Amino acid sequence: ERQEDFKGKKVLITAGPTYEKIDPVRFIGNYSSGKMGIALAEELAGRGAEVLLVCGPVNQKTSHPAIHWVDVESASQMCEVAVKEFPGCDLAILSAAVADFTPKEKANCKIKREKEDLLLELMPTQDIAAELGQMKKDSQLLVGFALETNDEESNACSKMQRKNLDMIVLNSLNDKGAGFGGDTNKVTIMHREGEKNVYELKTKVEVAKDIADQIAARYLMGS
Ligand code: C5P
Repeated sequence: ERQEDFKGKKVLITAGPTYEKIDPVRFIGNYSSGKMGIALAEELAGRGAEVLLVCGPVNQKTSHPAIHWVDVESASQMCEVAVKEFPGCDLAILSAAVADFTPKEKANCKIKREKEDLLLELMPTQDIAAELGQMKKDSQLLVGFALETNDEESNACSKMQRKNLDMIVLNSLNDKGAGFGGDTNKVTIMHREGEKNVYELKTKVEVAKDIADQIAARYLMGS
């Protein structure tokens, strides 16, 4: 028997890394695989949601008919799609590992090897989570992720407040098997109202179900 608790809901999910171009053949990136966001997209689509998955460069695929996949490369492209689409959505889950900095200038030609040091000047990217947090209406729900190396819970909590999120999924790099690349994750789900749920190490598919269950239990009841 399938749950249909997300039926009629439009969900925006960001996933994967972003690539910030240095020149035509080089970029600044990160190790995000996109697996967590794709697992979330599949879980919610399986429970009746219509999902818009805005995904940076990844090697994963998914082919659920209710998942509309939009490929992006850079933080600014991801931001543009997210800002445009969020007003039409009930819920956004921001699982992408967005670059925090991008080269100030993108060289048109391949940068040549030279004897001296090469200095790359970087500028901050837009914080997509914070932008959507500012746009958010009372009827909308915004869920973020946090990957912390120290003072995990207090950092995640202040991140949730600063970005105006309703829920934040904390994954700690101190936990073996959690975070980037692998198939497992160990999360703590923290809520705006202060409650938290601590989970065991699980597959990302199981973690996606836990996140969906928390959203459904707290925010979809009676809607
Ligand atoms: O500030 P930090 O990057 O740790 O916050 C993580 C959360 O914010 C994640 O949900 C991530 O997807 C989101 N984020 C974003 N745009 C950025 C940076 C982070 O949406 N430029």
